[in-house]
Amino acid sequence: MEIIIQKNSQQAADVGARIIRGLIAAKPDAVIGLATGSTPVSMYQRLIEMDLDWSQVTTFNLDEYIGLPKEHPQTYHSFMWENLFNHINIDPAKVHIPDGNAEDIPAHCSAYEKAIADAGGIDLQVLGIGSDGHIGFNEPTSSLASRTRIKTLTERTVQDNARFFSSAEEVPRHVITMGIGTIMEARTNLLLAFGDNKADAVAGMVEGPITANNPATVLQMHPSVKVCLDEAAAMKLERADYYRWVYEGKPEWQRDR
Ligand code: GLP
Repeated sequence: MEIIIQKNSQQAADVGARIIRGLIAAKPDAVIGLATGSTPVSMYQRLIEMDLDWSQVTTFNLDEYIGLPKEHPQTYHSFMWENLFNHINIDPAKVHIPDGNAEDIPAHCSAYEKAIADAGGIDLQVLGIGSDGHIGFNEPTSSLASRTRIKTLTERTVQDNARFFSSAEEVPRHVITMGIGTIMEARTNLLLAFGDNKADAVAGMVEGPITANNPATVLQMHPSVKVCLDEAAAMKLERADYYRWVYEGKPEWQRDR
């Protein structure tokens, strides 16, 4: 894992945006996995300002609530169009987001996996992290080999996400999420985490033992993971000085790769 600690979340988001810019420059038809939540918003904003050519890029989103009407403001479909897709020149036919209203959810999940494979696999997957260590919506005790499927949220995630709804009762309990096995097949994972409420999950992910109790720890087994943190999310890392030393010593040409 490459741990990139920045003074604040905007600087950490900028690092993430530059990594994606580098990927699209090197591979204009890249396949990029995208995430929702409050964390990636500033990185998406920076990507919009960069005015990149997204016309050949294919995207796959990590997850979606089940049962909310597609146009509901809190679906991840609405989130992605509002925060990114409406502002870039992406081809709507190349956008993929799980359909939380699919009639046959298991069949839809299998088709989603097939679409990722048919696109050649994901070059770079953007991830946030839940305060309980979930990635996508793979809650603690998810199979570390899981594929795209239906999941039930934990009470903690429902509470965490209630801020986007008028009450916790309105937060759907069920979701579709790429599996941990799916995420592990992305060629690179780019995880962003900001704020002190992520510090425990981040410390476990980077320095703790691999356990389904903190699903993000499985990323220790992935050959290419970049973790962009602000100081608050990094504050429980025992080896923070080492990570800073490594990043500061990186040759300039290697910096945004
Ligand atoms: C949500 C999403 C995740 C996200 C995480 C953190 O429930 N399913 O993809 O990374 O929880 O969200 P936030 O960035 O708002 O803290």
